[in-house]
Amino acid sequence: MPQGATHDLATRPETAVTTALGQRSIVLVGMMGSGKSSIGRRVALRLGIPFVDADAEIEQAAGMSISDLFAVRGEAEFRAGEARVIARLLEGGPQVLATGGGAFMNADTRTAIAAKGISIWLKAEFEVLMRRIRRRHDRPLLKTEDPGATLRKLMEQRDPIYSLADLTVESRDVLHDKIVDEIVSECRAWRAQLRRRHRARPTVFAGPKNRHAAAGVQGRDCQRRNGRTPPSCGD
Ligand code: S3P
Repeated sequence: MPQGATHDLATRPETAVTTALGQRSIVLVGMMGSGKSSIGRRVALRLGIPFVDADAEIEQAAGMSISDLFAVRGEAEFRAGEARVIARLLEGGPQVLATGGGAFMNADTRTAIAAKGISIWLKAEFEVLMRRIRRRHDRPLLKTEDPGATLRKLMEQRDPIYSLADLTVESRDVLHDKIVDEIVSECRAWRAQLRRRHRARPTVFAGPKNRHAAAGVQGRDCQRRNGRTPPSCGD
């Protein structure tokens, strides 16, 4: 091994991120076409942790495609199954987990992600999404007369919720590796900021009576970070 190689490995940003993750998952959220699966796969490869695609897991659990699930069982049943599958997958960290575009709309799923992961909104402009969405025809929500109008409406409804994610990274038409770099460095900066906050704040005894108070302090801590974020930043 070349001299200094061990040191290099220990100080790589990727190592800092995987160490900080512990058992938590990096959870990618955002609209259809934002690149959650393709970028997620690359982030996992870079960090040397598994990649899991929630939609693929749902299809496997149901024994049918997402399109068939919508057609045969309806959206409500799909959503219930989606929440169950994601709750189960979150037990399997550390990993990178790509969620389907609607998953983060479910409040219970957001709470589960906050407890077991770091959420990252892959945010993309309408035109970027539209270009990518045109390449695929297997998204039941976009099988409408005017997929563009449907997409705009979904973005209006969903973007305020996606913005609750711990981190936001712009997904755009650049090399995937550039976005992977940004995700790694955002995760690192986020972690460093939290560590400073943890050191600065007074210790709250988290015994049986105070556990909720302690959780509340931590929650407020995280909320202060971007104004709204629910707590997902426990050590
Ligand atoms: C959906 C997004 C899809 C899939 C399903 C519903 C949505 O996943 O879960 O078609 O509600 O936005 P992708 O975001 O991976 O396309």
